[in-house]
Amino acid sequence: MIPAAELIERKRNGEELAAGDLRDLVLAYVRDEVPDYQMAAFCMAVWFRGLTPAETHALTEAMVASGETIDLSALGRRVVDKHSTGGVGDKASLVIGPVVAACGVPFAKMSGRGLGHTGGTLDKLESIPGMTIELAHDAFVRQVQEVGMAIVGQTADLVPADKRLYALRDVTATVDQVSLIASSIMSKKIAAGADAIVLDVKVGDGAFMKTIDAARGLAEAMVSLGREAGREVVCELTDMDQPLGHAVGNALEIREAVETLQGDGPPDLRELVLSAAGHLLALSDLGVDADEGRRRAEQAIASGEAHVAYERWIRAQGGDPGLDALPVAPVVRDVPAPEAGYVQAIATTALGLASLHLGAGRATKEDVIDHAVGVVCRAKRGDELERGEPLATIHARDDVAAERAVAEVASCFRLGPEAPDPRPIVLDVVR
Ligand code: URA
Repeated sequence: MIPAAELIERKRNGEELAAGDLRDLVLAYVRDEVPDYQMAAFCMAVWFRGLTPAETHALTEAMVASGETIDLSALGRRVVDKHSTGGVGDKASLVIGPVVAACGVPFAKMSGRGLGHTGGTLDKLESIPGMTIELAHDAFVRQVQEVGMAIVGQTADLVPADKRLYALRDVTATVDQVSLIASSIMSKKIAAGADAIVLDVKVGDGAFMKTIDAARGLAEAMVSLGREAGREVVCELTDMDQPLGHAVGNALEIREAVETLQGDGPPDLRELVLSAAGHLLALSDLGVDADEGRRRAEQAIASGEAHVAYERWIRAQGGDPGLDALPVAPVVRDVPAPEAGYVQAIATTALGLASLHLGAGRATKEDVIDHAVGVVCRAKRGDELERGEPLATIHARDDVAAERAVAEVASCFRLGPEAPDPRPIVLDVVR
């Protein structure tokens, strides 16, 4: 029997636990030998006391050991992966994957669903008719080998400890703890098999990390966990004080991702994609640095090869890559600016929630997503508008939902007489 109560007490008192104790606790929890109430108390003790780097490493190893791991060595190449801590309008993976694949680097990613106000890559992909995101591990590896990339859902047998712990943390106010977030994300990345990973840690109102210092702490913890597991990790800290790009909502975001692959995307999304792709190519076996990687990524978009790689990938997973195939919302309505001025700030979490209330996200696990609906932010921070010009456009299922969203989205924009200072999308890089 695991002395769970004793381990909780020792963590509560600020003691450092031995790696073996943490491993036993996590594995016993997954075997149902430790009940949820004891694990919840343990997470709360960690929330107050924190974990040392050695404990965070031990927790991550135990989480990886709780399930299967994917072996990508059959590819005989350095495989890369990319992960974002979650934001509003973050469709970057849908562009980065095909860009990297078009540059000849295998890209293998396991993704999650939307969480609260943030969207999830899998939900976005499911707005593509016919697209399947469920692939067995061997089919996943085969697709990366044959098509150059795959983005699929995480299977139940990959880090089952995280699945259970995350659900528990979600309802016990213990999500926002750096070591718990770092071990949750990195255990999944390590188990999914890639050799090198670029992490996008979002910072700001629409992110889990509200300050650059908190984001840097998380980035450093994740880089160090990756290194201990023999993986190379580069972490970009990127702005989430406004949505990324314009589109928020599943099919709307797919459309914007495709436009970006065709060279027509919004500048902030394009910049984030080129920066991340540059780092991924530098971590690959191409033998280039990040500047040359960025140049190759630009070239892959300009030549149309990145868009071809997108179409090949979507077809490989059964989807129709044509934009005409995407669902369209029946009611489309503009949100007018109530006065003239510059956009000073956008309440990003509130805007993500407005999209969720339209049906683009889930309030509970059981909710069914409406892939057509969402919000397109026509104005971004620093843009100057006349009174009545559109701040945003609502895509809704019916008039009632559209009316409600117009008011909700209007209240997300703050206008002022002077242009705010410009801010780059990539705020810092931790390696
Ligand atoms: N994303 C994860 O996968 N885990 C966390 O704990 C937080 C965000």
